[in-house]
Amino acid sequence: TPAPPLDLNNIQGDILGGLPKKTETYFFFDVTNVDRFKANMTQFIPHVKTSAGIVKDREAIKEHKRQKRPGLVPMAAVNVSFSHLGLQKLGITDDLSDSSFTTGQRKDAEVLGDPGTKNGDTFTPAWEAPFLKDIHGVIFVAGDCHASVHKKLDEIKHIFGVGTSHASISEVTHVRGDVRPGQVSAHEHFGFLDGISNPAVDQFDQNPFPGQDSIRPGFILAKENGDSRAAARPDWAKDGSFLTFRYLFQMVPEFDDFLESNPIVLPGLSRKEGSELLGARIVGRWKSGAPIEITPLKDDPKLGADAQRNNNFDFGDSLVRGDQTKCPFAAHIRKTYPRNDLEGPPLNADIDNRRIIRRGIQFGPEVTSQEHHDKKTHHGRGLLFVCYSSSIDDGFHFIQQSWANAPNFPVNAVTSAGPIPPLDGVIPGFDAIIGQKVGGGIRQISGTNPNDPTTNITLPDQDFVIPRGGEYFFSPSISALKTKFAA
Ligand code: HEM
Repeated sequence: TPAPPLDLNNIQGDILGGLPKKTETYFFFDVTNVDRFKANMTQFIPHVKTSAGIVKDREAIKEHKRQKRPGLVPMAAVNVSFSHLGLQKLGITDDLSDSSFTTGQRKDAEVLGDPGTKNGDTFTPAWEAPFLKDIHGVIFVAGDCHASVHKKLDEIKHIFGVGTSHASISEVTHVRGDVRPGQVSAHEHFGFLDGISNPAVDQFDQNPFPGQDSIRPGFILAKENGDSRAAARPDWAKDGSFLTFRYLFQMVPEFDDFLESNPIVLPGLSRKEGSELLGARIVGRWKSGAPIEITPLKDDPKLGADAQRNNNFDFGDSLVRGDQTKCPFAAHIRKTYPRNDLEGPPLNADIDNRRIIRRGIQFGPEVTSQEHHDKKTHHGRGLLFVCYSSSIDDGFHFIQQSWANAPNFPVNAVTSAGPIPPLDGVIPGFDAIIGQKVGGGIRQISGTNPNDPTTNITLPDQDFVIPRGGEYFFSPSISALKTKFAA
């Protein structure tokens, strides 16, 4: 019998579908009056955009484009998510069966490898002050322009009486993300096209692109088919998803300087092309999004833009373990989703439980000419990293700790198919984009030179991506919002 369809009216819209956005504001709050909060939630819930609502909005956007109407469809969509501390504050004591969530990201930061200071047993990450405080929840509003988002956020703040004597929540902080301008609008700040590879979700994504793996909905949604922790979770958790938020600053001039100073030397490549190749081998894709596994030595912007082709690849020669001629093991996309390094023969490990759905947005200004000249960051910019999964332990936390930060991976790790055998003499090194040197570990990657995959390249002491805040949240279903979070 076919699986019953997902109830898209019950699932928040950012999880499946994703809120359409040119700009997005994350409003982090504490609940200050529980009774009033629950009463206010009754008014707030109708504002929450569902996955069904997103499907409709996307149709409207398509129609707008089809009719070649000018500008963007005016839009502002709201979602809400709660931390473990938030649940506690609301008297919700059920165990959601995810230890990263229960611990909270501030306490998890040491294990993630975030920079910080240790005093006795207490680790304090070097985060911005508001993220060192307790955060109960986040309301986020995405839209076509600042005016639409401001208006919507003001409406929401009004519902909760923010700033008045009858307030039920207080602001901890807010951060705003904006997609980059013009030609680079879908690119992250290092310049690479982002948002290409997300898993397709069975019973939601009807027509996955070639190479886009389909996963059972329970890897993203709690208590759906595929959620291995379903039995341990309360009924109301069904159709909710864990939201990982990371406030990630990117050192763009420093990254560019590193590429410029270390061009890959190959016959026929100019110095500039050698630098571009190094960047591509660090990410696993060219700036256009074209995968280096398919086009290893030269960018192919048509391929990068073609959703029918830009995800349709596996790594290396499946018969030769240790092949990083086309794409280094340490490349960001190979570290965070190793495809046939683990899936398929010979290992046949199942890694569907490591898949996450990414919904980030950029923040901060473009690099100024002064910064470019100084090769130094003067203005904060980066990625408001957001991802969803039915477990943070198995998803974000695991990818960061056991894959991105682990210089040996994909070697030695224990998988569903047993331990991973060594690769003849190759130490991949860590993910140069997000890997963090836990306890002063090695800062090297191998395989950047296609002609000599065993040469190591040493990264500068200063990471290119610096975490400055974050928290783990749970985005409940609409029915859970009504029964557990409202009165
Ligand atoms: C893919 C950049 C942080 C996990 C990508 C891609 C880029 C990118 C350019 C390729 C486009 C695509 O496949 O959609 C960045 C930057 C980051 C960052 C600049 C930090 C500022 C993270 C973090 C994680 C992560 C924190 C999780 C721990 C992934 C995954 C993919 C990906 C899973 C898709 C790989 C695939 O399916 O092939 N990232 N990323 N990224 N990133 Fe990141």
